[in-house]
Amino acid sequence: MSDTLTPAHVAIIMDGNGRWAKSRLLPRAEGHRQGVQALNRVTEAAVRRGIARLTVFAFSSENWARPAAEVAMLMQLFGQGLRRWCEPLDEAGVRLRVIGDRSAFSPGLQAAIAECEHATAGGTRMELNIAANYGGRWDVCQAAARAAAEGLAVTPETLGRFMSVPDVDLLIRTGGECRISNFLLWQSAYAEIFFTDRLWPDFSADDLDEALRWYEGRERRFGRTSEQLRAPH
Ligand code: FPP
Repeated sequence: MSDTLTPAHVAIIMDGNGRWAKSRLLPRAEGHRQGVQALNRVTEAAVRRGIARLTVFAFSSENWARPAAEVAMLMQLFGQGLRRWCEPLDEAGVRLRVIGDRSAFSPGLQAAIAECEHATAGGTRMELNIAANYGGRWDVCQAAARAAAEGLAVTPETLGRFMSVPDVDLLIRTGGECRISNFLLWQSAYAEIFFTDRLWPDFSADDLDEALRWYEGRERRFGRTSEQLRAPH
């Protein structure tokens, strides 16, 4: 079920795991573990709210620069998550896809990704895209390379066809920072952007509802004027 007041595509920059842990004198790893719980909650809520597509930033192409132990821990959490999510996502009608350059992942992780994508391929209620080793600039480049490989001229239309995911309606960033951090650069061209100080592990279904209510009140003009939007067709 969807209508113009419900964003078809919601994207989330899940920031603040480290600070959540630090403020409790816990290791950063615990913040990431709680981050996975928040992702589970928000996925369930998004399905209930009739959102057709949810794309979350789990690991950026720049995150490899973090301490090796933290990178290893995030990879482990990702693999574990994929194995745990397969069945419940399939039962909920959620199709999981991983977007990003997966060639950098271990063969075991690549296999877990393929398995979960295969197991949930029939889901029609919502698409959950996990952006991993993803960068918005990478996405534009891979789309341009694919368009060129097919002998197509590079235009906004052809590139748009090859981007990892379609345009975003509502982009949420938790954790208090107001930047896009090389997430869905192309797809956010006309996204409404909701920034919140809430740290990701604390983000709840109520917080998602707050963002959705805020979105309902936006006037999406796509370059036009308010008067044009209100004029009878
Ligand atoms: C940002 O918090 C979060 C990340 C870089 C990782 C996001 C991962 C999760 C939400 C866990 C679910 C992930 C997987 C692997 C599927 P931060 O560490 O930058 O927090 P800080 O800005 O407070 O330090």
